[in-house]
Amino acid sequence: MTVDLMKADLVVAVFGAGTMGRGIAQVCAQAGIDTLLYDARAGAVDEAIAAVGKGLDGQVAKGRMTEDAKRAVMAKLKPMTSLEEAKPAGLVIEAIVEDLGVKRDLFKKLEAILAPDAVLATNTSSLSVTEIAAGCARPERVGGLHFFNPPPVMKLVEVIAGLRSAPDLADALTAFTRRIAKTPIVATDTPGFVVNHAGRAYGPEALRIIGQGIASPREVDELMKDAAGFRMGPFELLDLIGGDVTHAVMESMYGRYYEEPMYQPSAVLATRVAAGLLGRKSGAGFYDYKNAEAASAPTVAVEKQPLPTAVWIADEDGGRDLATILEANGVKATVGGAPAKGALCFVTPLGEDCTSAALRLELDPARTVAVDMLGRFGKRHTVMKNPLTAPDVLGQAVAALGAGGAAVTAINDSAGFVTQRLLSMIVNVGTRIAELRVAAPADIDTAVELGLNYPKGPLALGDHLGAARVLAVLDGMFALTHDPKYRATTWLRRRAALGISLRTPD
Ligand SMILES: NC(=O)c1ccc[n+]([C@@H]2O[C@H](COP(=O)([O-])OP(=O)(O)OC[C@H]3O[C@@H](n4cnc5c(N)ncnc54)[C@H](O)[C@@H]3O)[C@@H](O)[C@H]2O)c1
Repeated sequence: MTVDLMKADLVVAVFGAGTMGRGIAQVCAQAGIDTLLYDARAGAVDEAIAAVGKGLDGQVAKGRMTEDAKRAVMAKLKPMTSLEEAKPAGLVIEAIVEDLGVKRDLFKKLEAILAPDAVLATNTSSLSVTEIAAGCARPERVGGLHFFNPPPVMKLVEVIAGLRSAPDLADALTAFTRRIAKTPIVATDTPGFVVNHAGRAYGPEALRIIGQGIASPREVDELMKDAAGFRMGPFELLDLIGGDVTHAVMESMYGRYYEEPMYQPSAVLATRVAAGLLGRKSGAGFYDYKNAEAASAPTVAVEKQPLPTAVWIADEDGGRDLATILEANGVKATVGGAPAKGALCFVTPLGEDCTSAALRLELDPARTVAVDMLGRFGKRHTVMKNPLTAPDVLGQAVAALGAGGAAVTAINDSAGFVTQRLLSMIVNVGTRIAELRVAAPADIDTAVELGLNYPKGPLALGDHLGAARVLAVLDGMFALTHDPKYRATTWLRRRAALGISLRTPD
């Protein structure tokens, strides 16, 4: 039986006073819990406590907190100068250097000091909780509390039970997480838990798209924000987190899942990291932060053209919606039947490139363009050419879609455009997490919304787009590329076939 983490006089000892430790200590103190803070580096704890005080002063200045409340929080935070001072702690939260040996060593020493029922929690991002626990005399008391940066702001905490954790440990840690006003989700001890696992779609697939010359980083970002509703584009996110950090996570996940193709790291990113183009922290990444106005040429040049007079649209998924959009823009279109001679032909494929759709429908490739009708919020459209599309045809297509004021991005031929590829990979990885029983379906969505700030969790996103459509995109990409990355999961395939929500458990 583990200690009661809800008792009024619980003492928490936080180890590591760096980026995460100081934030975790603040969160515990703010919940009125006596919180001790330790760091191996002399002076680090005092710096951390001063930084917390400064942050709270900012809250007071903004009127979000009273001076009294700030004083009450600071009174709950106490420095430790030796491990022995952690003796009264019922819960340890470890946020020291990400090194298995160092973490095991700390837990071993603490076990000799703490009460036998005290709980040891690690904030590790990329190590196995089970492996850290295996160095302990009582692995049943060891679990994971994975906070997100910065802890005072980020609502989510992933609660991890190791393989040998006591059966009631996850419940105790979940209750504790609620006590400190955070939202817990329970995940099994698997590489990346939920959030860092779910994040293996957005950046990697975007890197493949630019690596294949389909669109530029800026164009991909614009599409994901304006057409798919994401708050940040994948390249803005990569630059914020740092290419080096992301590349290390990609390599770790790929290795720990024994070279699962879905998680293959990006050679494009590796080269950029080698060049020192790390993102905001180095002044340049996918964007140039020293020269905000840096011009970026469009991937596909578009010659300005008048509106087309004869337009035909294939009668397939999204075709009639496209006709409505064009009509509102003052462009009349025929849907289905045979195209009139010389007509501009629009296709709306799912997971198929413009070339394949034109040939399948026996259209003239020179007069054919494709429009992405999946995951579209109407602020921006994607027009995709094939290698034979005539420049004036592309110009007319862009004019027709943009006549109502929406932005239009022209891209090179790709099965799945940009947004179909990214959205379907996010759903596919999300269903893989569900299939591997890393967390309950609803918790997967909560974790991704709160931890990655996506507009929807991956399973809710798949339901919104339609599981059958997402499957069609993945199957189409797989059929064209034979790349095992695009193999749809059984979880997705089964639920698409049954026509049920991707959140439906087995
Ligand atoms: N930074 C993030 O975004 C983030 C997010 C979630 C989890 N994490 C995890 O949290 C942990 C800490 O990360 P961070 O970013 O705060 O690192 P950090 O480098 O900012 O802080 C680590 C602190 O631990 C101290 N330390 C090192 N060895 C120690 C020991 N043996 N005993 C006591 N103190 C020791 C260091 O002096 C340093 O102050 C890591 O396990 C990391 O994987 C980090």
